[in-house]
Amino acid sequence: MLEIIAKKRDHGELTADEINDFIEGYTSGRIPDYQASALLMSIYLNGMNFNEASHLAMAMRDSGERLNWPAELGPLIDKHSTGGVGDKISLILAPVVAACGLTDPMIAGRGLGHTGGTLDKLESIPGFRVDLTATELHAALLKSKIVINGATGSLAPADKKLYALRDVTGTVASIPLIASSIMSKKLAAGINGLVMDVKCGQGAFMKQLPAAQELARTLVRIGQNAGVKMTAVITNMDAPLGLAIGNSLEVKEALAVLHGQGPKDIRQLTLALAAHMLVLGNKAKTFKQAYQRAGQTLNDGSAFAAFRQMVTVQGGDTRYVDRPELFPVSQQQVTITAAKSGYLAAIDSYQLGMAVVKMGGGRLIKGTPIKHQVGIVLAKKVSTAIQKGDLLATVHCEGIDDDLLIEIQNAFQITAAPVTAEPLILDTIN
Ligand code: URA
Repeated sequence: MLEIIAKKRDHGELTADEINDFIEGYTSGRIPDYQASALLMSIYLNGMNFNEASHLAMAMRDSGERLNWPAELGPLIDKHSTGGVGDKISLILAPVVAACGLTDPMIAGRGLGHTGGTLDKLESIPGFRVDLTATELHAALLKSKIVINGATGSLAPADKKLYALRDVTGTVASIPLIASSIMSKKLAAGINGLVMDVKCGQGAFMKQLPAAQELARTLVRIGQNAGVKMTAVITNMDAPLGLAIGNSLEVKEALAVLHGQGPKDIRQLTLALAAHMLVLGNKAKTFKQAYQRAGQTLNDGSAFAAFRQMVTVQGGDTRYVDRPELFPVSQQQVTITAAKSGYLAAIDSYQLGMAVVKMGGGRLIKGTPIKHQVGIVLAKKVSTAIQKGDLLATVHCEGIDDDLLIEIQNAFQITAAPVTAEPLILDTIN
């Protein structure tokens, strides 16, 4: 291990054998955390070329169980996001593609840093289980074509251990480490196609477009090398997606979109990602046809029905799906208003994501329970003209200190000159 660390420290290229040795040794406990941390930091600082990143993904994939699915399920096409603020797309997208005939065993994650997690959002529906075993996953997929679940304990265990270590050693935001981490889990899940939503901007791990493009290219090539059909879409994460940030608030917004309502950006991104998935799964010939087909499912109730079916199969209480007003509301609602007139030039998604975490909507300490009802609901989107005193957002909280309210207020930037909103989709790579 010492030689491997020194090689990477001195900008050398690690061989497949060296990477396999590291992953096997770290997963089994033979290699201690301090040596693994030294190697992670060397990778973070000196990078890895494509071959090294690909070997790392494969070694982590092979560190545990690999899921197999019966052929009768058809091609399995999934979507994964690198993590954002207000990103409730998976809750809408999975039912949309199921309503179009696609099967998706979606392995999702929990909140990470300032970003929210799909599993935490779904758990705001009482009874919803995200810990189905491999056998239960099979049964669920046969019934509802989609399932959104956590990674089973034996899926890419090397990633689970390394991720926890990266989180506490300042080595998360590294392109080869992120790409190999994501792809190890996706490849172990036995899917045939994957659409990656690579977030770019203030609220993303990749702040600049060139870095997001490099991450997207690395993800696509790792997947293609392993025989998985890939498309990566780079999307804007400067401002939050939609209006709601926070677990049950986001589920309610997702339900509105599933009923053909809700914010336009959420609908647009869901349909674009769904269209790429349908093309990869041979359910449509062209992107345009696929986009229209996906849109119909939001208008005719079939995507909502698929969501309801998934909730039933995963043990959730469907009364909350049918009557979202049943979700508990926070004790306090505090309004944030504009201090001056002008144009809403920016909404800092990182600040707002962190504020929700601090209010208890995410975790500052590993494993702590979260408050599903807290969060922030925006009243305006970027580029809107604002009058002094206009409502900018409502903070749903269980008590809040003044400093945090000031941080939230400061996340809204108002300028005298008009601004145009950035495009939502910045690039597509396949
Ligand atoms: N999501 C992952 O699964 N891994 C990373 O490293 C970053 C985001």
